[in-house]
Amino acid sequence: MFDATGMTTVDTRAVHAGRDDLRTLGVHVPPIDLSTTNPLPSVDDGGAAYEQLATGGTLPADGSAVYQRLWNPTVARFETALAELEGTAQAVAFASGMAALTATVLAAARDDRRHVVAVRPLYGGTDHVLATGLLGTTVTWARPDEVAAAIRPDTALVIVETPANPTLDLVDIAALAAAAGDIPLLVDNTVATPVLQQPARHGATLVLHSATKSIGGHGDVLAGVVACDADWAARLRQVRAVTGAILHPLGGYLLHRGLQTLPLRVRAQQATAEKLAGWLADHPAVHRVHHPSVYDPAALVGRQMAGPGSLLAFEVRGGAPAAATVAGACHLITHAVSLGGVDTLIQHPASLTHRPVEGDAKPGAGLLRLSVGLEDPEDLRADLAQALATIV
Ligand SMILES: Cc1ncc(COP(=O)(O)O)c(C=O)c1O
Repeated sequence: MFDATGMTTVDTRAVHAGRDDLRTLGVHVPPIDLSTTNPLPSVDDGGAAYEQLATGGTLPADGSAVYQRLWNPTVARFETALAELEGTAQAVAFASGMAALTATVLAAARDDRRHVVAVRPLYGGTDHVLATGLLGTTVTWARPDEVAAAIRPDTALVIVETPANPTLDLVDIAALAAAAGDIPLLVDNTVATPVLQQPARHGATLVLHSATKSIGGHGDVLAGVVACDADWAARLRQVRAVTGAILHPLGGYLLHRGLQTLPLRVRAQQATAEKLAGWLADHPAVHRVHHPSVYDPAALVGRQMAGPGSLLAFEVRGGAPAAATVAGACHLITHAVSLGGVDTLIQHPASLTHRPVEGDAKPGAGLLRLSVGLEDPEDLRADLAQALATIV
């Protein structure tokens, strides 16, 4: 139950986090609060609560939550639990991962600071929003060792994904935090999950998840969350309140429940991904496998990340036509975007998740991304074998 630091392990925290008051309430699972509005004790108290929540504060003791766009107790429970798993003071949940990313960029880029330094590859939507400047920012793309030189007086944020979607490149978070210096560092931890990696412990300022992925885990919740300190959380809640990007409480409930099985799911899916990565690496139709279990030049697995994770990618011989044939030939494995769920998905990033990415930064034409689920590894291997047989 306790790890080397005397704290309960991630498995125990995942089951119990955000549930401290349930016994007092006399219930075994968290209540779901769907109220869009809440009674106000008086005009003055209501006004004070509104002021506090709309400017990014937390729910006042014995105060009214006023309106669901400002505060929701079911969402707040999930936020408490996620912050505990990420080792941060607080977390703020959003209606999607992209809403979380947008709020973070808006909260960071203020006054005369509208420049972002970003390490590619990133999820295609993140790449797109930065490349187009839709949020009023400019971007400098940098390799990890170029980040320090890319920082300018107007830099507001440094953004990285590790492992990166879809190439599974790993970046040393502590080294990047040192390179970023005073500039806040946002780490997208969607692929690793807090079970395998807690970026804040390595110096990240903000830790972002598309909670749509492993945290939800069952393909039925669209959500995002940012784990951070109390000051950043207040800035994010203020943006969330005015832009209306809060997560729906049913989503908050399902994500909180999803956390309880996250460690088990991540480890089981990861074990299968390792088997499939090894098998794919020897397949004649495959010329390269991307997974930290087969490629980790800086030896970050074991040091920064507790394991290689359940997402992998592989490049088939024959480029885009061969990749399209393989994706279409899978039967048990579903040809669909998204990742981290209990069932295995395959997709072609260059055509789908990373379609908007410009020029050379676009993933390779023959690259397929495989999000490994909880099926029997032998059944998945057999499905991939028959799909790959169509191109050899
Ligand atoms: C790594 C990563 N970050 C962010 C996002 C965006 O999240 P959402 O689709 O929940 O908006 C995704 C979605 O695929 C992702 O894979």
